[in-house]
Amino acid sequence: MQQAFRASIFHCLADPGEKAAPSAVEFLEDGVLVVDDGVVARIGSAEKILPTLAVEVAVEDLTGSLILPGFIDCHVHFSQLDIIASYGEQLLDWLNRYAYPEEARFSDKEHAAEVAEVFVDELLRNGTTTALVFATVFPQSVDAIFEAAAARNMRLVAGKVLMDINCPDELSDDPASAYNDSKALIERWHGKGRLGYAITPRFALTSSEDQLAAAGRLAAEYPDTWVHTHLAENTAEVEEIAAQFSWSRSYLDVYDHFGLLRERSIFAHCLHLDAADRALMAEKGGAGAFCPTSNLFLGSGLFDLKSMSDAGVGVGLATDVGGGTSLSMLRTMSEAYKVLHLQDQSLPASRALYLATLGAAQALGLDHCIGNLEVGKEADFIVLNVDGSSATARRAAATSSIDELLFALIFLGDDRNISATYLQGQCASTFNR
Ligand code: GUN
Ligand code: ZN
Repeated sequence: MQQAFRASIFHCLADPGEKAAPSAVEFLEDGVLVVDDGVVARIGSAEKILPTLAVEVAVEDLTGSLILPGFIDCHVHFSQLDIIASYGEQLLDWLNRYAYPEEARFSDKEHAAEVAEVFVDELLRNGTTTALVFATVFPQSVDAIFEAAAARNMRLVAGKVLMDINCPDELSDDPASAYNDSKALIERWHGKGRLGYAITPRFALTSSEDQLAAAGRLAAEYPDTWVHTHLAENTAEVEEIAAQFSWSRSYLDVYDHFGLLRERSIFAHCLHLDAADRALMAEKGGAGAFCPTSNLFLGSGLFDLKSMSDAGVGVGLATDVGGGTSLSMLRTMSEAYKVLHLQDQSLPASRALYLATLGAAQALGLDHCIGNLEVGKEADFIVLNVDGSSATARRAAATSSIDELLFALIFLGDDRNISATYLQGQCASTFNR
Protein backbone atom coordinates (compact mmCIF):
# COMPACT_ATOMS: atom_id res chain seq x y z
CA MET A 1 0.00 0.00 0.00
CA GLN A 2 1.31 3.46 -0.91
CA GLN A 3 1.20 6.42 1.49
CA ALA A 4 2.54 9.95 1.06
CA PHE A 5 3.56 12.54 3.64
CA ARG A 6 3.97 16.22 2.80
CA ALA A 7 6.21 18.37 5.05
CA SER A 8 9.66 19.92 5.16
CA ILE A 9 12.11 17.01 5.12
CA PHE A 10 15.72 16.89 6.32
CA HIS A 11 18.11 13.94 6.38
CA CYS A 12 21.81 13.15 6.09
CA LEU A 13 23.34 11.38 3.11
CA ALA A 14 26.85 11.26 4.58
CA ASP A 15 28.87 12.70 7.49
CA PRO A 16 28.65 16.52 7.26
CA GLY A 17 31.84 16.78 9.37
CA GLU A 18 32.89 19.69 11.56
CA LYS A 19 32.32 22.12 8.68
CA ALA A 20 28.72 21.04 7.97
CA ALA A 21 29.26 20.08 4.31
CA PRO A 22 26.00 20.99 2.52
CA SER A 23 26.40 18.11 0.07
CA ALA A 24 26.09 15.66 2.99
CA VAL A 25 22.46 16.56 3.65
CA GLU A 26 19.22 16.86 1.75
CA PHE A 27 16.66 19.51 2.72
CA LEU A 28 13.31 19.75 1.00
CA GLU A 29 11.43 22.80 2.19
CA ASP A 30 8.16 21.52 0.70
CA GLY A 31 8.81 17.82 0.29
CA VAL A 32 6.92 14.58 -0.13
CA LEU A 33 7.91 11.19 1.23
CA VAL A 34 6.24 8.26 -0.52
CA VAL A 35 6.16 4.99 1.39
CA ASP A 36 5.28 1.64 -0.15
CA ASP A 37 4.78 -1.34 2.16
CA GLY A 38 6.79 0.31 4.92
CA VAL A 39 9.73 1.22 2.68
CA VAL A 40 10.66 4.60 1.21
CA ALA A 41 9.57 4.52 -2.43
CA ARG A 42 10.28 8.14 -3.39
CA ILE A 43 11.46 11.38 -1.81
CA GLY A 44 11.47 14.77 -3.50
CA SER A 45 9.85 18.16 -3.82
CA ALA A 46 6.07 18.39 -3.61
CA GLU A 47 6.08 20.17 -6.95
CA LYS A 48 7.72 17.20 -8.62
CA ILE A 49 6.07 14.30 -6.79
CA LEU A 50 2.46 15.32 -6.14
CA PRO A 51 1.35 15.42 -9.81
CA THR A 52 2.68 11.92 -10.37
CA LEU A 53 0.89 10.19 -7.48
CA ALA A 54 -1.95 7.80 -8.30
CA VAL A 55 -5.32 9.26 -7.29
CA GLU A 56 -5.93 6.63 -4.63
CA VAL A 57 -2.75 7.56 -2.70
CA ALA A 58 -3.77 9.59 0.35
CA VAL A 59 -1.41 12.46 1.10
CA GLU A 60 -1.04 13.22 4.79
CA ASP A 61 -0.55 16.97 4.98
CA LEU A 62 2.07 17.79 7.63
CA THR A 63 2.93 21.16 6.12
CA GLY A 64 4.54 23.39 8.74
CA SER A 65 6.26 20.42 10.41
CA LEU A 66 9.62 18.82 9.73
CA ILE A 67 10.13 15.16 8.91
CA LEU A 68 13.43 13.64 10.08
CA PRO A 69 14.63 10.04 10.12
CA GLY A 70 13.89 8.35 13.46
CA PHE A 71 16.61 8.73 16.05
CA ILE A 72 18.88 5.81 16.92
CA ASP A 73 20.09 5.42 20.51
CA CYS A 74 23.32 3.40 20.40
CA HIS A 75 23.48 2.51 24.10
CA VAL A 76 20.79 2.50 26.77
CA HIS A 77 19.75 0.38 29.80
CA PHE A 78 16.00 -0.24 29.97
CA SER A 79 16.27 -1.52 33.53
CA GLN A 80 17.61 1.84 34.71
CA LEU A 81 14.58 3.90 33.73
CA ASP A 82 13.56 4.39 37.35
CA ILE A 83 16.98 5.41 38.68
CA ILE A 84 17.73 8.29 36.28
CA ALA A 85 19.11 11.21 38.27
CA SER A 86 20.36 9.30 41.32
CA TYR A 87 22.57 11.61 43.30
CA GLY A 88 26.18 12.05 43.91
CA GLU A 89 28.39 9.15 42.80
CA GLN A 90 30.89 8.28 40.13
CA LEU A 91 30.59 5.06 38.14
CA LEU A 92 31.66 2.26 40.49
CA ASP A 93 29.83 3.60 43.54
CA TRP A 94 26.82 4.53 41.40
CA LEU A 95 26.61 0.92 40.15
CA ASN A 96 26.75 -0.50 43.68
CA ARG A 97 24.45 2.03 45.24
CA TYR A 98 21.79 2.44 42.54
CA ALA A 99 22.10 0.33 39.39
CA TYR A 100 22.68 -3.15 40.87
CA PRO A 101 19.86 -3.01 43.45
CA GLU A 102 17.47 -1.76 40.77
CA GLU A 103 18.46 -4.45 38.28
CA ALA A 104 17.83 -7.16 40.90
CA ARG A 105 14.11 -6.33 40.58
CA PHE A 106 14.16 -7.61 36.99
CA SER A 107 14.23 -11.25 38.04
CA ASP A 108 10.47 -10.70 38.20
CA LYS A 109 9.16 -11.08 34.64
CA GLU A 110 6.05 -9.04 35.41
CA HIS A 111 8.11 -6.11 36.64
CA ALA A 112 10.44 -6.39 33.65
CA ALA A 113 7.48 -6.45 31.26
CA GLU A 114 5.87 -3.41 32.86
CA VAL A 115 9.09 -1.36 32.65
CA ALA A 116 9.81 -2.58 29.10
CA GLU A 117 6.43 -1.35 27.88
CA VAL A 118 6.91 2.09 29.41
CA PHE A 119 10.50 2.27 28.21
CA VAL A 120 9.68 1.50 24.58
CA ASP A 121 6.80 3.98 24.57
CA GLU A 122 9.10 6.63 26.05
CA LEU A 123 11.62 5.98 23.30
CA LEU A 124 8.93 6.46 20.67
CA ARG A 125 7.58 9.57 22.38
CA ASN A 126 11.10 11.02 22.16
CA GLY A 127 11.42 10.13 18.48
CA THR A 128 13.77 7.18 18.96
CA THR A 129 12.88 4.39 16.55
CA THR A 130 15.85 2.08 17.10
CA ALA A 131 17.98 1.38 20.17
CA LEU A 132 20.81 -0.88 21.27
CA VAL A 133 19.66 -1.95 24.72
CA PHE A 134 21.21 -3.53 27.80
CA ALA A 135 18.65 -5.77 29.51
CA THR A 136 19.76 -7.38 32.78
CA VAL A 137 21.39 -10.66 33.75
CA PHE A 138 17.95 -12.31 33.83
CA PRO A 139 16.89 -13.91 30.51
CA GLN A 140 13.25 -13.09 31.25
CA SER A 141 14.12 -9.37 31.15
CA VAL A 142 15.47 -9.90 27.61
CA ASP A 143 12.21 -11.58 26.60
CA ALA A 144 10.35 -8.61 28.08
CA ILE A 145 12.16 -5.94 26.04
CA PHE A 146 11.96 -7.95 22.81
CA GLU A 147 8.25 -8.63 23.34
CA ALA A 148 7.58 -4.92 23.88
CA ALA A 149 9.54 -3.94 20.75
CA ALA A 150 7.97 -6.69 18.61
CA ALA A 151 4.48 -5.60 19.63
CA ARG A 152 5.26 -2.17 18.14
CA ASN A 153 7.25 -3.41 15.12
CA MET A 154 10.27 -1.49 16.38
CA ARG A 155 13.79 -2.23 15.17
CA LEU A 156 15.68 -2.98 18.38
CA VAL A 157 18.83 -4.83 19.41
CA ALA A 158 19.23 -6.13 22.95
CA GLY A 159 20.90 -8.81 25.02
CA LYS A 160 21.28 -10.54 28.35
CA VAL A 161 23.91 -8.98 30.59
CA LEU A 162 26.81 -11.30 31.41
CA MET A 163 28.39 -10.77 34.84
CA ASP A 164 29.89 -13.42 37.09
CA ILE A 165 32.42 -11.70 39.40
CA ASN A 166 32.75 -8.48 41.41
CA CYS A 167 28.99 -8.08 41.61
CA PRO A 168 26.14 -8.95 43.99
CA ASP A 169 25.39 -12.69 44.19
CA GLU A 170 21.78 -12.23 43.09
CA LEU A 171 22.99 -10.65 39.82
CA SER A 172 25.68 -13.19 39.10
CA ASP A 173 25.55 -15.80 36.36
CA ASP A 174 28.46 -18.11 35.44
CA PRO A 175 30.36 -18.89 32.23
CA ALA A 176 28.21 -21.91 31.34
CA SER A 177 24.83 -20.26 32.01
CA ALA A 178 26.01 -17.06 30.30
CA TYR A 179 26.80 -19.08 27.19
CA ASN A 180 23.73 -21.33 27.27
CA ASP A 181 21.21 -18.60 28.12
CA SER A 182 22.63 -16.23 25.49
CA LYS A 183 22.58 -18.98 22.87
CA ALA A 184 18.95 -19.81 23.62
CA LEU A 185 18.02 -16.11 23.42
CA ILE A 186 19.88 -15.72 20.11
CA GLU A 187 17.98 -18.68 18.70
CA ARG A 188 14.70 -17.26 19.99
CA TRP A 189 15.08 -13.62 18.98
CA HIS A 190 17.93 -12.79 16.60
CA GLY A 191 16.61 -11.89 13.16
CA LYS A 192 13.00 -12.34 14.22
CA GLY A 193 11.16 -9.49 12.48
CA ARG A 194 13.10 -6.31 13.21
CA LEU A 195 14.90 -7.64 16.28
CA GLY A 196 18.57 -8.38 16.71
CA TYR A 197 20.65 -9.89 19.49
CA ALA A 198 23.68 -8.38 21.21
CA ILE A 199 26.10 -10.49 23.23
CA THR A 200 26.37 -8.25 26.29
CA PRO A 201 29.22 -8.69 28.78
CA ARG A 202 28.55 -5.83 31.24
CA PHE A 203 32.21 -4.75 31.32
CA ALA A 204 35.46 -6.59 31.77
CA LEU A 205 35.45 -5.81 35.50
CA THR A 206 32.43 -8.04 36.16
CA SER A 207 33.36 -10.98 33.93
CA SER A 208 35.82 -13.80 34.67
CA GLU A 209 38.23 -14.72 31.91
CA ASP A 210 36.22 -17.92 31.40
CA GLN A 211 33.10 -15.86 30.87
CA LEU A 212 34.78 -13.46 28.43
CA ALA A 213 36.06 -16.51 26.53
CA ALA A 214 32.51 -17.94 26.41
CA ALA A 215 31.22 -14.60 25.10
CA GLY A 216 33.98 -14.63 22.47
CA ARG A 217 32.95 -18.14 21.38
CA LEU A 218 29.38 -16.94 20.90
CA ALA A 219 30.61 -13.89 18.98
CA ALA A 220 32.45 -16.22 16.57
CA GLU A 221 29.58 -18.70 16.26
CA TYR A 222 27.06 -15.96 15.52
CA PRO A 223 29.00 -13.37 13.50
CA ASP A 224 25.94 -11.30 12.59
CA THR A 225 24.96 -10.72 16.21
CA TRP A 226 26.23 -7.60 17.96
CA VAL A 227 28.70 -7.37 20.82
CA HIS A 228 27.73 -4.64 23.27
CA THR A 229 29.72 -3.58 26.32
CA HIS A 230 31.27 -0.67 28.20
CA LEU A 231 34.83 0.52 27.63
CA ALA A 232 37.14 2.99 29.37
CA GLU A 233 34.45 5.12 30.99
CA ASN A 234 35.98 6.08 34.31
CA THR A 235 39.57 6.40 35.48
CA ALA A 236 39.08 4.27 38.64
CA GLU A 237 37.49 1.58 36.44
CA VAL A 238 40.42 1.71 34.00
CA GLU A 239 42.88 1.26 36.90
CA GLU A 240 40.99 -1.76 38.20
CA ILE A 241 40.94 -3.30 34.74
CA ALA A 242 44.71 -2.86 34.47
CA ALA A 243 45.13 -4.68 37.80
CA GLN A 244 42.62 -7.47 37.00
CA PHE A 245 44.08 -8.14 33.55
CA SER A 246 47.72 -7.35 34.29
CA TRP A 247 48.79 -9.12 31.08
CA SER A 248 46.82 -6.69 28.89
CA ARG A 249 48.20 -3.72 26.98
CA SER A 250 44.99 -1.78 27.49
CA TYR A 251 41.31 -2.13 28.39
CA LEU A 252 40.40 -2.62 24.71
CA ASP A 253 43.11 -5.26 24.43
CA VAL A 254 41.17 -7.36 26.98
CA TYR A 255 38.09 -7.45 24.75
CA ASP A 256 40.21 -8.04 21.67
CA HIS A 257 42.05 -10.91 23.35
CA PHE A 258 38.74 -12.73 23.90
CA GLY A 259 37.41 -12.16 20.38
CA LEU A 260 34.99 -9.43 21.38
CA LEU A 261 36.33 -6.74 19.06
CA ARG A 262 34.93 -7.26 15.60
CA GLU A 263 32.42 -5.80 13.14
CA ARG A 264 29.20 -5.04 15.06
CA SER A 265 31.04 -4.57 18.37
CA ILE A 266 29.74 -1.43 20.07
CA PHE A 267 31.64 0.07 22.98
CA ALA A 268 29.91 2.59 25.21
CA HIS A 269 31.96 5.62 26.34
CA CYS A 270 35.52 5.13 24.96
CA LEU A 271 36.77 8.08 27.02
CA HIS A 272 40.19 6.89 28.15
CA LEU A 273 41.70 5.35 25.02
CA ASP A 274 45.03 5.94 23.33
CA ALA A 275 45.92 6.17 19.65
CA ALA A 276 46.79 2.47 19.46
CA ASP A 277 43.34 1.55 20.83
CA ARG A 278 41.58 3.77 18.31
CA ALA A 279 43.64 2.36 15.45
CA LEU A 280 42.84 -1.20 16.56
CA MET A 281 39.15 -0.42 16.89
CA ALA A 282 39.08 1.02 13.38
CA GLU A 283 41.02 -1.92 11.96
CA LYS A 284 38.68 -4.50 13.51
CA GLY A 285 35.49 -2.60 12.66
CA GLY A 286 34.30 -1.84 16.21
CA ALA A 287 32.42 1.39 16.92
CA GLY A 288 31.95 3.77 19.84
CA ALA A 289 28.81 5.07 21.53
CA PHE A 290 29.11 8.73 22.58
CA CYS A 291 27.09 9.21 25.78
CA PRO A 292 27.42 12.90 26.71
CA THR A 293 24.73 13.25 29.38
CA SER A 294 26.04 10.20 31.20
CA ASN A 295 29.67 11.25 30.93
CA LEU A 296 28.85 14.63 32.43
CA PHE A 297 26.45 13.30 35.08
CA LEU A 298 28.80 10.60 36.37
CA GLY A 299 31.80 12.91 36.04
CA SER A 300 33.48 10.40 33.73
CA GLY A 301 35.18 12.64 31.17
CA LEU A 302 34.92 14.17 27.70
CA PHE A 303 34.47 12.10 24.55
CA ASP A 304 37.06 13.02 21.91
CA LEU A 305 35.03 12.82 18.69
CA LYS A 306 37.77 14.28 16.52
CA SER A 307 40.32 11.64 17.50
CA MET A 308 37.79 8.85 16.98
CA SER A 309 36.72 10.18 13.57
CA ASP A 310 40.29 10.89 12.46
CA ALA A 311 41.21 7.30 13.36
CA GLY A 312 38.31 6.05 11.24
CA VAL A 313 36.22 4.69 14.12
CA GLY A 314 32.44 4.79 13.64
CA VAL A 315 30.55 6.73 16.31
CA GLY A 316 26.88 6.87 17.22
CA LEU A 317 25.17 8.98 19.81
CA ALA A 318 23.61 7.39 22.89
CA THR A 319 21.68 8.32 26.02
CA ASP A 320 23.06 5.66 28.41
CA VAL A 321 20.01 6.06 30.62
CA GLY A 322 20.16 5.71 33.68
CA GLY A 323 23.75 7.02 33.96
CA GLY A 324 22.51 9.37 31.26
CA THR A 325 19.88 11.84 32.31
CA SER A 326 17.40 11.86 29.43
CA LEU A 327 15.96 9.54 26.81
CA SER A 328 15.68 12.52 24.47
CA MET A 329 18.19 12.43 21.63
CA LEU A 330 17.62 16.20 21.24
CA ARG A 331 18.85 16.70 24.84
CA THR A 332 21.70 14.30 24.11
CA MET A 333 22.75 16.23 20.98
CA SER A 334 22.83 19.51 22.88
CA GLU A 335 25.06 18.01 25.59
CA ALA A 336 27.29 16.52 22.89
CA TYR A 337 27.74 20.00 21.49
CA LYS A 338 28.87 21.29 24.90
CA VAL A 339 31.25 18.38 25.51
CA LEU A 340 32.92 19.04 22.16
CA HIS A 341 32.92 22.80 22.62
CA LEU A 342 34.97 22.32 25.80
CA GLN A 343 37.60 20.58 23.66
CA ASP A 344 37.67 23.19 20.90
CA GLN A 345 35.70 20.90 18.60
CA SER A 346 32.57 21.99 16.82
CA LEU A 347 29.29 20.18 16.29
CA PRO A 348 27.02 21.80 13.72
CA ALA A 349 23.36 20.80 13.84
CA SER A 350 23.64 18.63 10.73
CA ARG A 351 26.46 16.61 12.26
CA ALA A 352 24.64 16.25 15.57
CA LEU A 353 21.68 14.83 13.63
CA TYR A 354 24.05 12.61 11.66
CA LEU A 355 25.39 11.10 14.90
CA ALA A 356 21.81 10.38 15.99
CA THR A 357 20.65 8.93 12.64
CA LEU A 358 22.85 7.83 9.73
CA GLY A 359 26.11 7.82 11.74
CA ALA A 360 24.47 5.71 14.42
CA ALA A 361 23.08 3.34 11.77
CA GLN A 362 26.56 3.00 10.25
CA ALA A 363 28.08 2.35 13.69
CA LEU A 364 25.54 -0.45 14.20
CA GLY A 365 25.96 -1.81 10.68
CA LEU A 366 22.30 -1.07 9.94
CA ASP A 367 22.70 1.74 7.41
CA HIS A 368 21.49 -0.54 4.60
CA CYS A 369 18.00 -0.36 6.14
CA ILE A 370 17.74 2.66 8.48
CA GLY A 371 19.46 5.99 9.26
CA ASN A 372 18.01 8.21 6.55
CA LEU A 373 15.10 8.39 4.11
CA GLU A 374 16.78 7.27 0.92
CA VAL A 375 14.70 5.13 -1.42
CA GLY A 376 14.68 1.50 -0.26
CA LYS A 377 15.18 2.21 3.44
CA GLU A 378 12.62 1.32 6.09
CA ALA A 379 10.33 4.31 6.60
CA ASP A 380 11.08 5.04 10.27
CA PHE A 381 10.64 8.76 10.73
CA ILE A 382 9.48 11.45 13.10
CA VAL A 383 7.45 14.60 12.73
CA LEU A 384 9.05 17.53 14.50
CA ASN A 385 6.92 20.50 15.32
CA VAL A 386 8.28 23.89 16.34
CA ASP A 387 5.09 24.72 18.27
CA GLY A 388 5.81 22.11 20.95
CA SER A 389 6.59 24.85 23.43
CA SER A 390 6.38 28.62 23.43
CA ALA A 391 10.18 28.75 23.68
CA THR A 392 10.70 26.75 20.48
CA ALA A 393 7.90 28.58 18.66
CA ARG A 394 9.42 31.99 19.44
CA ARG A 395 12.97 30.93 18.70
CA ALA A 396 11.94 29.20 15.45
CA ALA A 397 10.21 32.36 14.26
CA ALA A 398 13.50 34.22 14.66
CA THR A 399 15.56 31.80 12.56
CA SER A 400 16.38 32.33 8.92
CA SER A 401 17.91 29.05 7.75
CA ILE A 402 17.35 25.33 8.26
CA ASP A 403 20.72 25.03 10.04
CA GLU A 404 19.75 27.74 12.50
CA LEU A 405 16.33 26.19 13.06
CA LEU A 406 17.74 22.70 13.65
CA PHE A 407 20.36 24.03 16.04
CA ALA A 408 17.74 25.92 18.06
CA LEU A 409 15.48 22.85 18.18
CA ILE A 410 18.37 20.71 19.36
CA PHE A 411 18.88 23.03 22.30
CA LEU A 412 15.32 24.05 23.14
CA GLY A 413 13.32 21.08 21.88
CA ASP A 414 12.24 17.97 23.73
CA ASP A 415 9.52 15.34 23.57
CA ARG A 416 6.89 18.10 23.28
CA ASN A 417 8.29 18.86 19.83
CA ILE A 418 7.86 15.31 18.54
CA SER A 419 4.33 15.26 17.11
CA ALA A 420 4.43 11.72 15.80
CA THR A 421 6.73 8.76 15.35
CA TYR A 422 6.33 6.41 12.39
CA LEU A 423 7.65 2.86 12.17
CA GLN A 424 7.74 1.50 8.63
CA GLY A 425 5.22 4.12 7.60
CA GLN A 426 2.78 3.29 10.40
CA CYS A 427 2.12 5.89 13.06
CA ALA A 428 3.39 4.29 16.26
CA SER A 429 2.20 7.19 18.35
CA THR A 430 0.81 10.64 17.91
CA PHE A 431 1.68 13.24 20.48
CA ASN A 432 1.13 16.97 21.06
CA ARG A 433 -0.72 17.50 17.84
N1 GUN B 1 29.70 0.13 33.29
C1 GUN B 1 29.27 -1.08 33.69
N2 GUN B 1 27.95 -1.08 33.92
C2 GUN B 1 27.52 0.16 33.65
C3 GUN B 1 26.23 0.79 33.69
O1 GUN B 1 25.21 0.19 34.02
N3 GUN B 1 26.21 2.11 33.33
C4 GUN B 1 27.31 2.79 32.95
N4 GUN B 1 27.20 4.07 32.62
N5 GUN B 1 28.51 2.22 32.92
C5 GUN B 1 28.62 0.93 33.26
ZN1 ZN C 1 25.83 2.03 29.98
